[in-house]
Amino acid sequence: MRSNLMVVVICCTVAVMAVSGCKKQAGTVENLKAAITGETTASAKYAAYAKKAKEEKFDKIAKLFEAASRAESIHAQKHTAVLLKMGEKMDPITPRFAVKSTRENILDAIKGESYEVSTMYPDFIKKAREEGKDDAAGSFDYAFQVEKVHHGLYQAALAALDKNDFTGLADSYAVCPVCGNTVAGIAPPNCEICGVPGAEFIILK
Ligand SMILES: [Fe+2]
Ligand SMILES: [Fe+2]
Repeated sequence: MRSNLMVVVICCTVAVMAVSGCKKQAGTVENLKAAITGETTASAKYAAYAKKAKEEKFDKIAKLFEAASRAESIHAQKHTAVLLKMGEKMDPITPRFAVKSTRENILDAIKGESYEVSTMYPDFIKKAREEGKDDAAGSFDYAFQVEKVHHGLYQAALAALDKNDFTGLADSYAVCPVCGNTVAGIAPPNCEICGVPGAEFIILK
């Protein structure tokens, strides 16, 4: 009798999900894996975009792509450390992207950063907080804040390219080893995002 009742309950639940089109929302583990895939791909892609910018003689834009590539790699490492601490593991990733002209590559970078800032990270942070996954929420939040910085830097690079005036762009960048904050020119006394001393920043000249 009890087992018959269980079968009825399970069948009804499945039927309701099928009728309503109910789809299970991804949890923080899935979100960490998606973010690691995204950040690893972005890091490889920006490194390739840097090479292309150098070929096209846009040295300052190449430097920005190099710095952002380093930052995305820091995000991937931090998210991976959180995932492993949760007892999960990451499958190997094969980054997939296309290299086009530097202008198209900047537009692609702006599109990617916009998605992360407007949708991906806000959703991932909200879910992690709901699930009480504080380490994941913190790692997502650092990346979220840095992607906002990248978005602004890429918009400035696009404006410079369109005006053919690169005087406003930096020759070098300082990248925070903890959160990936990407600062044009010299490092600040302390990271404005995570507070780490500027002396620890990675300098890309
Ligand atoms: Fe970024
Ligand atoms: Fe930082």
